[in-house]
Amino acid sequence: MRNLNISIFASGTGSNFEAILKAKKKGLIKSTIALLITNNSQCGAVEIARKNSIDVVHISRKVYPELSEEKYTEIFLNVLKTYNIDFIVLAGYMKLLPPSLVDEYENRIINIHPALLPSFGGKGMYGINVHRAVLESGVKVTGITIHFVNKEYDKGRIIFQKCVEIYPDDDEYSLQKRVLKYEHKYYPLIISELEKHLL
Ligand code: GRF
Repeated sequence: MRNLNISIFASGTGSNFEAILKAKKKGLIKSTIALLITNNSQCGAVEIARKNSIDVVHISRKVYPELSEEKYTEIFLNVLKTYNIDFIVLAGYMKLLPPSLVDEYENRIINIHPALLPSFGGKGMYGINVHRAVLESGVKVTGITIHFVNKEYDKGRIIFQKCVEIYPDDDEYSLQKRVLKYEHKYYPLIISELEKHLL
């Protein structure tokens, strides 16, 4: 049986992408990490892809402002088809996916969020903003959520959650660092579980 082909979508630093690549090297993840799609050609994730000889495709609305939604979605679908992509892993991807892409890959797109959804999610809740909002709210635990992606930000069916302790002297940066460690541990594990069901 052939391995699955995964496309990572990322816009930022790419530390989750790196954790996934490490898990692939260790043999925990069996699928081929075939491609990185990014909307930001200057981001850290692109560097990581280049170092690991993974193809990068830059797709940004800014590059194609004149295209209809349909034509713009076709660009994604054509690239995914060219690389035979079975499964999409969002790892710090900052854009909402085109709705028809979500339909095409129903239950085959996942995302990781650095808090316990449905709290602290939705538009604008990304990066350090999430951890700031968590601390401001006064909650005593935070966590990570891995979920399927639907057409709304952070609203898809939850697959996995793990609590992360908040310390009294935490600021948003120390909290982000602790939460990221959990992301790096559990995202590859969940991908390795999911791929078994898709094989
Ligand atoms: C992570 O906190 C992830 O939960 C969120 O975006 C951040 C990406 O970080 N979706 P990185 O680019 O993987 O370092």
